[in-house]
Amino acid sequence: RKSPAQQLRTILIGPPGAGKGTQAPRIRDEFCVCHLATGDLLREQIAKKTELGQMAKKIIDAGELVNDEIMVNMIKDQLENNKSCKNGQVTIHPVVVFVLDGFPRTIPQAEKLDAMLETRGEKLDSVVELAIPDQLLISRITGRLIHPASGRTYHKEFQPPRKPMTDDITGEPLIQRSDDNIETLTKRLATYHKQTAPVVNYYKNKSLWVPIDAAQSPNVVWENLRKVFREGPRSS
Ligand code: AP5
Repeated sequence: RKSPAQQLRTILIGPPGAGKGTQAPRIRDEFCVCHLATGDLLREQIAKKTELGQMAKKIIDAGELVNDEIMVNMIKDQLENNKSCKNGQVTIHPVVVFVLDGFPRTIPQAEKLDAMLETRGEKLDSVVELAIPDQLLISRITGRLIHPASGRTYHKEFQPPRKPMTDDITGEPLIQRSDDNIETLTKRLATYHKQTAPVVNYYKNKSLWVPIDAAQSPNVVWENLRKVFREGPRSS
């Protein structure tokens, strides 16, 4: 273990391209917490061609949100029955420390998460908003490259792989997400402002909100995030 500053339970909120998927793995690795990304969980279902995956693909490509009940059950299942593999043996254990990425995205999801944590006798430590103007997100999203198996993210210009369209670690091909085009992005941003921006206010009212300027370079954003988790939201 590196530096488990505290029993970290945090949420990253931000529009598409704000850097949630870039920063959350760093939080996971530095603070030894579980990274739960609902977008990645849905894309796993799409890759497996499950019924849920087929339904989710249409919604995701339309830039809309999957139904609250489905998403709440998905997170509940992850928090209660997370599977990890140690020495080749799969163990199932509840997740007690986590960074949530992409959840909650609506007020009902936030309320259900509160109820879930209360039942478990747990509380959130902070909710970090990765704040960034919409106009900076277009180039981030249209230039993004993904390694589907690991979720590793690159950017054609800002964070290019060593070899074009190839994952640095495995040498496997990189892809672009089907929702990473201007038309769908415009809808995703509209959905964010309408349905997810109110969630930021919800957490402001609970004094959990910590804003971070996400328009800076990934390393500067990371240093600021680290300070929040090492020193606690109020001293940042
Ligand atoms: P999801 O996968 O969560 O997508 P999203 O919120 O649109 O966020 P992104 O993954 O696009 O952006 P990010 O903030 O992770 O950016 P990244 O770090 O990769 O959800 C997809 C869909 O699933 C939703 O639209 C919805 O339909 C559905 N869904 C998911 N959760 C749901 C829920 N709870 N309820 C209902 N529906 C749900 O960065 C982007 C690019 O920029 C990368 O190439 C990166 O290298 C680069 N970059 C990152 N940081 C910087 C920086 N500081 N400077 C320069 N470049 C940077």
